[in-house]
Amino acid sequence: MSLRSRHLPRRSCLSTPGSSDRFLAKAPTATTDFSFLDLEDSVAPNEKIGARAKVVSAIRNLEWDDRVLCVRVNAWDTPWTYGDVIEVVGNAGARLDEIMMPKVQRASDVVAMDLLLTQVEKNSGLEIGHIGIEAQIETAQGLINVEAICAASPRIESIVFGPADFAASIGMPVTTIDETIHDGPSNPFSYVFAKILMAGRANGLHVIDGPFLKVRDLDALRYAAAISASYGFDGKWALTPDQALVLNEVYSPGQALFDKSWDILDAYQVATEHDHTGALMFGDEMIDEASAKIAQSFVARGHRSGMQRTNK
Ligand code: GLV
Ligand code: MG
Repeated sequence: MSLRSRHLPRRSCLSTPGSSDRFLAKAPTATTDFSFLDLEDSVAPNEKIGARAKVVSAIRNLEWDDRVLCVRVNAWDTPWTYGDVIEVVGNAGARLDEIMMPKVQRASDVVAMDLLLTQVEKNSGLEIGHIGIEAQIETAQGLINVEAICAASPRIESIVFGPADFAASIGMPVTTIDETIHDGPSNPFSYVFAKILMAGRANGLHVIDGPFLKVRDLDALRYAAAISASYGFDGKWALTPDQALVLNEVYSPGQALFDKSWDILDAYQVATEHDHTGALMFGDEMIDEASAKIAQSFVARGHRSGMQRTNK
């Protein structure tokens, strides 16, 4: 596992096609928690091999601040996976934090990647275990196996939903995944969100939502992102720097909630340590240890996003 990146936030995860010099040059200027340079679906088949060197050069020569830096390789059912890993991980140096694996179907897909990464690390002078793994769930088979996938390797840092490939895998009658975003119980991904979230959390992973394709409609993005945020997801993919700005807001707790969470923790500490009671009134809400745990998670998220308490 990558010690540097494991606990960094991933509110916005910016995708950049690895074959485009123009987009690669622009990516470091975006305000995003996480950048991944793509060798998979945003790269045309005849550009796949040439894109590897462009990605390596971008990692080595551009200034990436302290964001998580990742490369999405091609899936095991293509001819490109091992070459992607050997060429990119073997040459990118220690600034590369993670590999993203698309269309993960079963735990053994991750185990195979873990073994290959160990060999490449040994041959390129990287610390063993330096490269973390992001695993994308994008097929019915992957969803069925998500619990084993999340537990398959200590390298796994995040589990990521891939709605576009997933809609194709299950035969959902839509041409763009944005049409699947509805509120409340009619959200056709509610089971998927809950299942991925439980598997991820049971293994201490970040849990990330996938792309929103109407890139100019930022209000619609905000609406869609708020749905997975309400489940507890940590972040979502961005296809443009403007999308990333919206996501940084949606997946942060917000100042009022951050400050209230601190107040709850203070009140709970006084109640338990001085008044020897486990439940107390906080305004008109009855709170107890579970409320303190929720507050603690908002405080931790806020801190990871650089927030400061303003009410004390
Ligand atoms: C992302 O890879 C998706 O398929 O949605
Ligand atoms: Mg996909």
